[in-house]
Amino acid sequence: MSKIKIAPSILASDFSRLGEEVASVIEAGADMIHIDVMDGHFTPNITIGPCVVSSLRSHCTVPMDVHLMISDPGAYIKDFADAGADIISFHIEAGPHPHRIINQIKELGCQAGIVLNPGTSENDIEFVAEFVDMVLVMTVNPGFGGQAFIPEMLRKIRNIRAMIGDRDLEVDGGIDQSTSAEVIAAGANVLVAGSYVFRHASYLEAIESLRTGVGGE
Ligand code: DX5
Ligand code: ZN
Repeated sequence: MSKIKIAPSILASDFSRLGEEVASVIEAGADMIHIDVMDGHFTPNITIGPCVVSSLRSHCTVPMDVHLMISDPGAYIKDFADAGADIISFHIEAGPHPHRIINQIKELGCQAGIVLNPGTSENDIEFVAEFVDMVLVMTVNPGFGGQAFIPEMLRKIRNIRAMIGDRDLEVDGGIDQSTSAEVIAAGANVLVAGSYVFRHASYLEAIESLRTGVGGE
């Protein structure tokens, strides 16, 4: 399996110092920056749009991993690609034409990811998995940071790892020092973490402890 990659979610960062926060986690070893986009329809919360991604572009020397939790992802792919996203992931639950959206993302030169809510079976992505660069398994219900990891998702992670060979399998929600070891053992290789990283006194220790399962708090 490839190196474990850590993607801090800026949702838990200090938005008044976003550029500095991004620079600090990159300095501390972040492999990509995870950006949570919510629209108040697909999720109960509203977060950030393409203009923030565009502002962060010059601060971001690692890939920008944009997670669209929105009802009509196809309408916004170009905006996020133009803003400088490197990876664009959208939810399988968001609409009937995932292939079309995957093609849109790739034609714009970005990597494509497909995301599953906790209540969605891996069977729902059976016929799209081969077209994406990454599968993202939500380990909480999307909408907010700081929620508890749902342990039943470990079985889904194992099943998806068996489906996708050595492509990237990302997990998102409730990832900390102990759940990171469990998801890695189940087959995840890209770990999103918001609260755990940004509430830790040392971003460096937090990121290293996620990657290795030792150290940290
Ligand atoms: C949840 C978001 C997550 C969130 C993770 O809807 O997709 O990326 O920021 O936050 P933590 O790590 O605090 O669970
Ligand atoms: Zn996310």
